[in-house]
This record gives sequence, structure tokens and C-alpha cells, in this order.
Amino acid sequence: MTIFVRNAWYVAAWSREIDDTLRRFTILNENIVMFRKSDGGIAALEDRCPHRLLPLSKGKRIGDTVQCGYHGLTFDGTTGQCTRVPGQTNLPKSAYVESYRTEERHGIVWIWMGDPAKADPAKIFDMPEFTDPKWAVHLGDALHLKSNYLNVAENLVDPAHISFVHPTTLGSAASENVPVHVKTEGEAIVAWRWIRNAEPVGFFKALDCFTGNVDRWHYYYLYTPCTAVIDFGSIEVEKQCAEEDRDQGVRIFALHFMTPVTETYTIDRWAHIRNTALDDPEIEARMDAAFRAAFAEDQDILEAVQEEENRPQKRRPIRIAIDKGPLVYRKRINDLIELERTEDLASDPSPAFVYHD
Ligand code: FES
Ligand SMILES: [Fe+2]
Repeated sequence: MTIFVRNAWYVAAWSREIDDTLRRFTILNENIVMFRKSDGGIAALEDRCPHRLLPLSKGKRIGDTVQCGYHGLTFDGTTGQCTRVPGQTNLPKSAYVESYRTEERHGIVWIWMGDPAKADPAKIFDMPEFTDPKWAVHLGDALHLKSNYLNVAENLVDPAHISFVHPTTLGSAASENVPVHVKTEGEAIVAWRWIRNAEPVGFFKALDCFTGNVDRWHYYYLYTPCTAVIDFGSIEVEKQCAEEDRDQGVRIFALHFMTPVTETYTIDRWAHIRNTALDDPEIEARMDAAFRAAFAEDQDILEAVQEEENRPQKRRPIRIAIDKGPLVYRKRINDLIELERTEDLASDPSPAFVYHD
């Protein structure tokens, strides 16, 4: 059975990854060839010629069409329809490749691979800070993980792991026993906690933001199926920051756009948005370095977990209190997959809800 939700917008690439040349991307276990068309839009076609199955990405771009590199069948970059079969005048009806809708926002390319009638660009993830001059936006790397996307997503609604996986970067031992709160907020599953009056963690030390102790927060927002926003930051203890006044501290949103590549491989394109050092490329580079170090720690864990999942299982994994966010996530994904499988158009999946405080 599939583990993929099809009726959703996924990040296919950063805009800077797409140019005039034919490039292959694998998303939801399907190969797609993408390129930038003459009008600036992005073509996304099934990367498999319907004749002898040569990937079209091995062919040639001619204007806004793609010519297969084997026998020259040519396909329109927008519709996927065959426009030429060398050596004959008739074009067989079955000579086409799938074409996918794409949208570009803030330097990010989104793709819709589900039912075309359901593609609604208003549902693409966005947040006002992308265009607010009080915030600096930086698109980071595409992190390749040999891990299934569900485990990657769960890791991103799980503040408890940072004390153990990131003890010198994003977390510290001071947070080991601080309970995690979980709730749902519309589409988002939110897990959060505050660690009051503790030393700044390595990430903020590296930015030279604080000298004394700080209050630190982590709010993890996971949007089904594949977008996560981690709102984290710190503020001097003396300021006695209320939850809703986080803008007064050094506040950072770490964004993760997960693209399921195959059942056991995910690309996490990460970005960050900050309210400090807005025009400071050196701080930005330091943040990148700190994130790379932290995400390498996640990668190590997630890939080792995947290797174990690939082996025969003796019993079901146990669940503990901190798993509330991940459990809601799995339920929502299963509901969406079931909905697509049964094509039950009459009702939406019932929103799973937990409140834990
Ligand atoms: S395989 Fe593409 S034209 Fe023959
Ligand atoms: Fe992590």
C-alpha cells in the first residue's frame, strides 16, 4: 500500500535549481523532468518516453518541447502531448507524457501530482515573514536523507529529541525533563516547550547573542503532509518574556520542506527566517553552519532508524508520552491516504485532535 498522499503541494526544488537544461527529479517515486520554459514558467513532465521508456531527460530541449533521445518523439513542455513522430504524420493518441502543475513562490518551486481538479494554489504553504522587511529569509540546502518521509516529519514535531540528538547545538541537558505540550491548530500539529533560565544553547552562543542565562522556546508546527516550521529563540531571563512576545527575543523560524523521493528516501530543503542581524551575511553563514551541524545529527539518527526498519520486525515499537504529535501526524496521513484510496469525495477526514498540557 502507498505511503504517499498525492493530493498535496510538494516542494519540487528551489527555483535556483531549475534552468534551461533538462533535469530529472524523483518525487513520490516518480521520475519527472523539469526545465524553465521561454516564458519563465516551469515545465514538469513524466520523465519516461511512452515509446521505449527512455527518460526524456536524456533527450534534447527544443524550444519549449522535449525531443526524446532515442527516436525523436517530441513532447510539448506544458501539456505533455506528442507534437512530432519522425517518419510519420499521424500522432497516436497514446503518445503523451503526464504533465504536472507547478507554482513558484519566494524562490521555491511547488508541484501538484494529485488530481488536477483539486490543485488549489491558495493551499500552498506561506507565511507573512517571507515578505516582511523586519525579517531576513535565507534558503539553505537540499539535505538528502536515506529515510522515509514519515520518520523525517515526526522528527520535526518532536522537541524532546533535541536534548539527546543535539546536546551541543540546538539543545542541552537542561531540557531533558521539561515536558512537551501538544495541540492541533487547524492544519498544524503543534508541539512546544519553554526552557526557562538556562545557559544559551550552542546555536545562540555561536551567534554571540547572549552573555547570561536565557529563556528559550521551541514551537514545532507540522503541516500535513510535508512542511514543518520550527519557531525557536531565546531572550534574556530578566525580560520575563510572555509566550506571545517572542518577537522581542532573537527569534528564528527553521523551515523544512520535505519531498518524499521514494519510500526510503527524502529530501529536506531547509530555510531560515530571522528577526536579527538582517543585513549580516556573516551571521547568516554562521547560522547555516550551525544548522548543517545540527541536521547532520538528525541525519545520523534517521538513517540508522531506517536501516533498522528495513530489517524484519519482532514487535511493534512502543509509544511514550512525547509521541503525541507524531501519533496525530500518522493518523492524519493515514486518513488522507485512505480518503484518496476510496475516492470518498463526500467528506473530509475527521481531524484528529489531542490536547496535552
Ligand atoms: S524511446 Fe522515445 S522515441 Fe523511442
Ligand atoms: Fe533534530
